[in-house]
Amino acid sequence: MHNFSDSCQRNQQPILEQLKPWLQQSVEVLEIGSGSGQHALHFSRALATINWQCTDRAMWLAALQANIQEAALDNVRPAIELDVDGVWPQRQFDMIYTANSLHIMGWDSVQALFNNLAEHLHTSGYFCCYGPFKYNGEFTSPSNANFENWLKDRDPQSGVRDFEALQALAEQQQLNLVTDIPMPANNQLLIWQKT
Ligand SMILES: C[S@@+](CC[C@H](N)C(=O)[O-])C[C@H]1O[C@@H](n2cnc3c(N)ncnc32)[C@H](O)[C@@H]1O
Repeated sequence: MHNFSDSCQRNQQPILEQLKPWLQQSVEVLEIGSGSGQHALHFSRALATINWQCTDRAMWLAALQANIQEAALDNVRPAIELDVDGVWPQRQFDMIYTANSLHIMGWDSVQALFNNLAEHLHTSGYFCCYGPFKYNGEFTSPSNANFENWLKDRDPQSGVRDFEALQALAEQQQLNLVTDIPMPANNQLLIWQKT
């Protein structure tokens, strides 16, 4: 496995357990920022009914595609390029999923991501977003505050996002928040639905 992620290994099963009810209503899933593809492979092994489209920016595609090829699952498509700032597939999906990506990209890119959701989701489709978030300007744990410092040292444009700011972007896209699930290690799983 290229670019193996320990955190994916730890969080893939807890995420799957929460995501299952929504994945059971979804066939075509688009993932933004698949990284190693570990989530895609774990979820797709568990649920034969889904068709998972992995994506990432161009520089990560070769390693991602090697992992997908090695897994040889019928329901995981070859990886394609998606950069939220301008490279999107020309079709709609039942679910768009992303994990640990909003705090890595700059705020302009987070806005670009949300601005593309409605266009790329079928009516009643879901946008599912896993990661750490702030609420009313507060971190949910001291470790997330430390994580923010680490992120900012690395890239000042990155940072743990405010839930309320994401909710405002979602509302502009006619997306309703359907659940906000606290997850292990001070993360959340946010799910919006296109109305
Ligand atoms: C920390 S990694 C998370 C990878 C994987 N989802 C996980 O949970 O381990 C952040 C991901 O966001 C992606 N990303 C960052 N900026 C992006 C952009 N502008 N468009 C698309 N993906 C982006 C990165 O390439 C990377 O795959």
